[in-house]
Amino acid sequence: MGIVIITGASRGIGASTAVQAARHGMGVILTYNSNPSGAEKIVRAIEAEGGKAVAIGLDVSKVSTFAAFRANVAKALSTTWDRDRFDGLVNNAGYGLFNPIETVTEAEFDGLLNVHLKGPFFLTQALLPLMADGASIVNMASATSRLATPGVAPYASFKGGLEVLTRYMAKEFAPRRIRANSVAPGPIRTDMTSEALDQNPEWMAMLAGQTALGRIGEPEDVSRVVVNLLSTDSGWINAQNIEVAGGYNI
Ligand SMILES: NC(=O)c1ccc[n+]([C@@H]2O[C@H](COP(=O)([O-])OP(=O)(O)OC[C@H]3O[C@@H](n4cnc5c(N)ncnc54)[C@H](OP(=O)(O)O)[C@@H]3O)[C@@H](O)[C@H]2O)c1
Repeated sequence: MGIVIITGASRGIGASTAVQAARHGMGVILTYNSNPSGAEKIVRAIEAEGGKAVAIGLDVSKVSTFAAFRANVAKALSTTWDRDRFDGLVNNAGYGLFNPIETVTEAEFDGLLNVHLKGPFFLTQALLPLMADGASIVNMASATSRLATPGVAPYASFKGGLEVLTRYMAKEFAPRRIRANSVAPGPIRTDMTSEALDQNPEWMAMLAGQTALGRIGEPEDVSRVVVNLLSTDSGWINAQNIEVAGGYNI
């Protein structure tokens, strides 16, 4: 069913996507940044279920390293799968930052820009030569782009930019039948949010209360949708942003 690359898959939504993709018969190249042991744990979990996965280090904010990353991907494709192309890319790696516009520093702004918009742009560009015709790209956006949440202005703005970039990818890669969609999760319990959620039970209750289905999301709520978009079952879904949020602030 193809081989997919998932960035930021050492934990959270990316790790869950890696596991779900393998359960759907996909070979998985997963990346980590600071947490190689987390990534190795996911590789072993996939192998224990009979799947195949390889973990490669990648900092998505360092565009100058992308050519070397492409070479590592080519090596993994050939060694592990005897292939020279992959079939799906999930631009998932990311982090959150709470700071109102009034006090955001230039370094904080640039850090978020590099990881959430510039990184996915140039990583996708770097990987195009190895991407099979008919491949599927899924970009991880955020419901914060639809709904202004005080304290996350740069993050939400770059996620909004990623939604626009997704449509441009769908247009420009269409001659190669490559689809591009984005997924926009609402609040999901991962390392990115769990400390804040656990320390502020009233905030968690408020977020759950703002959600039609009455709870915070779990990584699997998102990863199942991502894997569906990667698969040919979603072959006619293209250039869409799909909010996966249980009906958040409707
Ligand atoms: N959780 C939510 O409520 C929520 C809602 C909407 C959107 N999202 C988006 O969903 C995506 C995944 O978030 P999550 O909640 O699963 O977060 P998480 O549990 O904190 O995991 C973040 C992942 O991204 C990787 N990462 C962070 N900075 C990186 C960098 N510079 N280069 C490469 N990898 C990097 C981390 O790698 P290491 O651990 O190896 O450093 C980790 O694997 C993000 O794009 C986030 O913005 C999350």
